[in-house]
Amino acid sequence: MALATVTIPSLVRAELISESASQPPVSCDETTQDYYGQGPFYSTNAPLIINNQLALADELGTRFIISGRVHNLDCTEYIEGAIIDIWHANDAGAYDNTGFNLRGKTTSNSQGFYLFETIYPGKYLNGSAYRPAHIHFKITPPGFPILTTQLYFQGDSDIPSDAAASISSGTYEATHRIVPVTTNSLGQKEATWDIVIDGSGNPVGIEEMRATMGMIYKIYPNPFSDFIQINYGVFREAKVSIQVFDIQGNLVANLQELNLTPEKYTAEWHPDSNIRSGHYFIALKINDVQVHYLKVIKEN
Ligand SMILES: [Fe+2]
Repeated sequence: MALATVTIPSLVRAELISESASQPPVSCDETTQDYYGQGPFYSTNAPLIINNQLALADELGTRFIISGRVHNLDCTEYIEGAIIDIWHANDAGAYDNTGFNLRGKTTSNSQGFYLFETIYPGKYLNGSAYRPAHIHFKITPPGFPILTTQLYFQGDSDIPSDAAASISSGTYEATHRIVPVTTNSLGQKEATWDIVIDGSGNPVGIEEMRATMGMIYKIYPNPFSDFIQINYGVFREAKVSIQVFDIQGNLVANLQELNLTPEKYTAEWHPDSNIRSGHYFIALKINDVQVHYLKVIKEN
């Protein structure tokens, strides 16, 4: 019996890792400051972002959704209440230096998540060369210093020649701030960026926990309207729950809470009719530790 218990999870684990190969790896690299610091276009007192829309609906450009989680330096905790001050250029590469268009603040929610929707930033000349597309951030975790940095996007041909984005080691290393961009079925670009910063918060699973405890490996359809199916694996006998949070961090649904043995499982969410369209996070908890989450989009 003991042998079987050992064998089954290792088989499941190998299969799940190969199925999840296309997902971005979880890293715990401390988020670095950018060589250019805040640059010349920062404005203080940007307003709070309303309904997670940094760009209004009529803003020219490709819609771009950025989400992630704020972690402490070794990723053992997630940080709620971190203030994330964001600003970037418009589709034509211009900053609003008189008002607050494409400038705003949001806060990591009670689960450490943040999300905002904007447009893909345009490029502007820095001397004779274009800077790569980028978004500026000032991140302030409660009780800890501000980190000022910039986020870049994979495949941008202006990264190698940029004095800041091309730095691959040391204090201003930008490698882990160049994130992949995907396009969802609505034609919106999406990127995930986990912020790793000095701070303190609540315990969270780390990658090793995911490999030894369990993970979500597929959620579909996404976007969805009437129901969504969550396929996940459990690698040790444990109390397992699947929870849905809205972007404010409110618990929207508790899909399962079961004692499970190591195996692959499926859960479904049939949202109540009062569940609004928008973004939600689906989280896998094992023995009350959140080991994995994925973001989904609900349509009407
Ligand atoms: Fe800039």
